[in-house]
Amino acid sequence: MKRQPRSNPRPRSSKSLRTVSIVGTGSYVPEKILTNEDLSRMVDTSDEWITTRTGIKERRIAAKDENTSDMATKAALKAMEQAKISASDIDLIIVATATPDMLFPATACFVQKKIGAKNAACLDVSAACAGFIFGLEIGQQFITSHTHDTVLVIGAEKLTSITNWTDRNTCVLFGDGAGAAILQHRGSAHGVISTHIGSDGQFTDILFMPGGGSRCPITRDNVDKNLATIHMTGKEVYKQAVIAMLGAAQKALEKAGLSIHDIACVIPHQANLRIIEGIADRLDIPLEKFYVNLDRYGNTSAAAVAIALDEANRSGRIKHGDYVLMVVFGGGLTWASTIIEW
Ligand code: ACO
Repeated sequence: MKRQPRSNPRPRSSKSLRTVSIVGTGSYVPEKILTNEDLSRMVDTSDEWITTRTGIKERRIAAKDENTSDMATKAALKAMEQAKISASDIDLIIVATATPDMLFPATACFVQKKIGAKNAACLDVSAACAGFIFGLEIGQQFITSHTHDTVLVIGAEKLTSITNWTDRNTCVLFGDGAGAAILQHRGSAHGVISTHIGSDGQFTDILFMPGGGSRCPITRDNVDKNLATIHMTGKEVYKQAVIAMLGAAQKALEKAGLSIHDIACVIPHQANLRIIEGIADRLDIPLEKFYVNLDRYGNTSAAAVAIALDEANRSGRIKHGDYVLMVVFGGGLTWASTIIEW
């Protein structure tokens, strides 16, 4: 018998693409605070140096038994409560992280177990600090195409587990935390208007963790070399960060057909206040347009922009109808931006 020819049914779908909104946000940071003063007793640094070079005053440190998935779960539950959804509504869980609980299974699977989201597919995204917006873009595609209705995107990090506490060049910069967003189609606002993601693998050697992967497993012979910690060429990262974030912001604005002056609030990656000031200057907008919380949390990588979004949302800093620009960069290099009608 002759078999009927088969083809992927999706292109035949008559459904039109649909818009995607963030319908709930949540965040969590650990209780323990490590101040610049505390750090000055650990390495040769000072509150004055850290504040003037970075803008960071303190950061949060997860407890020994508090894993990335624990922080991710706490942020997710708050986002679910705000979105008024239950765990069984979630079709897809995406966790953006550079510090997964384990290399596998995905941290998203641990979150699934903890919140009881039995109907969800789960995956992690590795795009360093840019991961949360990469996750938003991935989640958006599934909703736009009608493949899924509800996506949970989380940025979560326990960076203090990969920090070299004897290296003053890096240990003053990082902290722990998690932020989450629920994506759904919603009729009452346009939601995500434009997104841009990009990478440049030429720069894999300016911000990286050399050990702990398959290329350089941690062995008895190299265990004392601090290979499973963050390595960074600070000045080069700084330079590339400004270029990448400016380019990404401009791409998202172009795609959206908006000017920077239409934006009510910019939520940037929270790495360094001087980077944010540099971008404000080049975009010719006042620093007050930027939501900044790095003074309290330091750089929490993929969690940073997600925590900032939740704080801006819950504090009323961003309001229904506002245009919000989120723009990030990370190791890779990676960069991403999105404009959302809130
Ligand atoms: N305390 C005191 N002195 C310090 C410290 C410290 N914590 N860290 C470095 N120094 C010293 C250096 O040893 C150097 O001393 P030397 O001149 O005697 O050699 C001096 O300060 C100047 O060091 P620089 O590296 O030139 O300092 P710079 O002004 O560039 O600031 C910084 C360093 C803050 C790291 C900056 O380069 C920066 O912000 N870079 C971007 C980093 C970043 O954002 N990283 C996160 C990326 S996101 C992600 O994916 C994780």
